[in-house]
Amino acid sequence: MLAIIAAVGNYGVYSIGNKLPWEHHGVILREDMRRFKQMTTGNIVIMGRGTFESLGKKPLPHRINIVVSRRARTKDGVLIESNFASALSLAKYLAEGRTIFAIGGISVWREAFPIADELYITEVNKEYARPDADGVRSFPVFLDPERHSRFKETSREGFFDKKADTYYDFVKYVRT
Ligand SMILES: NC(=O)c1ccc[n+]([C@@H]2O[C@H](COP(=O)([O-])OP(=O)(O)OC[C@H]3O[C@@H](n4cnc5c(N)ncnc54)[C@H](OP(=O)(O)O)[C@@H]3O)[C@@H](O)[C@H]2O)c1
Repeated sequence: MLAIIAAVGNYGVYSIGNKLPWEHHGVILREDMRRFKQMTTGNIVIMGRGTFESLGKKPLPHRINIVVSRRARTKDGVLIESNFASALSLAKYLAEGRTIFAIGGISVWREAFPIADELYITEVNKEYARPDADGVRSFPVFLDPERHSRFKETSREGFFDKKADTYYDFVKYVRT
């Protein structure tokens, strides 16, 4: 099974200055991190080179890490593929019942979106930046997947992160 997992602020903003939008503002969303870890552990993650670098160029532990890059060289604990299709083929070959998560960034999500079975989107109810501002990356499709492809929202769980003083929704979509 192929799933997408992502966390976005208003306008679908997912990155500012090569950091998560909230981290750019000095805030950590612990419950979102906990959920990401819990969902992806034991499974397979596919990510772009930018995302891999934003994770400190280290593989996420207890997961099969596949990095998509046209130019990255081998790295311990990481499988490198030159395009998304070959990354996905490799992931399927290794899956043995594991879920394959496309964890970002945008080019990985764009290719995974038309074929993904499920989406796990954390909608963070905050304007961190205008989407057209310098250094800001956004993927607004995640705020309305039903309009862009055949997905149905199947659950929405609201959460208030006290420490971060931030509301967010964990939303699940399933392909119809
Ligand atoms: N909010 C979230 O849920 C979330 C999730 C993930 C990441 N992020 C943030 O997003 C930022 C990184 O994402 P990004 O969108 O800027 O970059 P990215 O997609 O992670 O990485 C882009 C690079 O990945 C390689 N790549 C991606 N797709 C490819 C394809 N189909 N074929 C070949 N190569 C491909 C290319 O590397 P080469 O140049 O080496 O060829 C490309 O330059 C970071 O700030 C991170 O914190 C946020």
